[in-house]
This record gives sequence, structure tokens and C-alpha cells, in this order.
Amino acid sequence: MGSARLAVRDGRAVLETGMWLARSRRGCGIGTAALRMLLGEAAAAGARAVVADTTSDNAAALAALRHHGAALVESRHTADVHAELRTTRPPA
Ligand SMILES: CC(C)(COP(=O)(O)OP(=O)(O)OC[C@H]1O[C@@H](n2cnc3c(N)ncnc32)[C@H](O)[C@@H]1OP(=O)(O)O)[C@@H](O)C(=O)NCCC(=O)NCCS
Repeated sequence: MGSARLAVRDGRAVLETGMWLARSRRGCGIGTAALRMLLGEAAAAGARAVVADTTSDNAAALAALRHHGAALVESRHTADVHAELRTTRPPA
């Protein structure tokens, strides 16, 4: 129904995510749930943050990111939006 990735960026402390769902599967909560799972995977891998890049017209992506407490930084010159989510590390 789609794909999601976690990629190493700036060392293993910060991972980068991207997600794509088939149109027929969008808007059903899958993206939000998948992002929650990715944050858990990132925390288990020892990462302190997950980052993502999207655009200001991508309402679903922005809402899913906000749902998980992302800090969003909008570009002054383009529609680009950079998101950073803190992970919750599991207890040692
Ligand atoms: C972005 C994407 C992964 C989100 O996944 P999703 O399963 O469609 O999103 P969800 O159903 O979990 O909804 C997430 C939030 O967006 C809102 N939303 C969903 N579709 C929306 C739409 N078309 N317009 C506005 N808001 C929308 C939901 O209400 C929800 O908000 P809430 O947390 O306030 O309730 C998916 O839509 C997608 O694959 N889009 C195309 C590829 C893409 O843009 N990838 C992301 C690049 S960073």
C-alpha cells in the first residue's frame, strides 16, 4: 500500500524519514500510525531525532508531523518545510 524509510543522516543520532501511500490508502490514519512506528524504530536504534522535508501545500504530511510534535521550519524563499521530531529513547 506504500512505503516508508528511515535513512542515516548526520550520523546515527539523526535519521531522515520519507513516506508515500497509494492514493486509495490516504486519509485513513496510516501515515500517522506509520510515523509513530518509525519514531519507535528510531528511538530503539539510539537516534535522538527524526527529520523530514515536505512542502507547505502538503496538508496531510504537515498534520501527521504536527500530530507527533514536530518542530516545523518554513523556508523564506520556497514552499519547502523542514520538520524535526524528537524521539523518546527506551529506558536503558
Ligand atoms: C503524507 C501521507 C504519508 C500522510 O499519510 P495519511 O495516511 O494520508 O495521513 P493520515 O490519514 O494519518 O492523516 C494525517 C493528518 O492529516 C490530515 N489529513 C489527511 N488527509 C488530508 C488532506 N487531504 N487534507 C488535509 N488534511 C488531511 C488528517 O486529518 C490527519 O490530521 P489530524 O492528525 O489532525 O487528525 C500520505 O498522504 C501520502 O503518502 N501522501 C503522498 C506522498 C507524500 O506527500 N509524502 C510525504 C512527503 S514528506
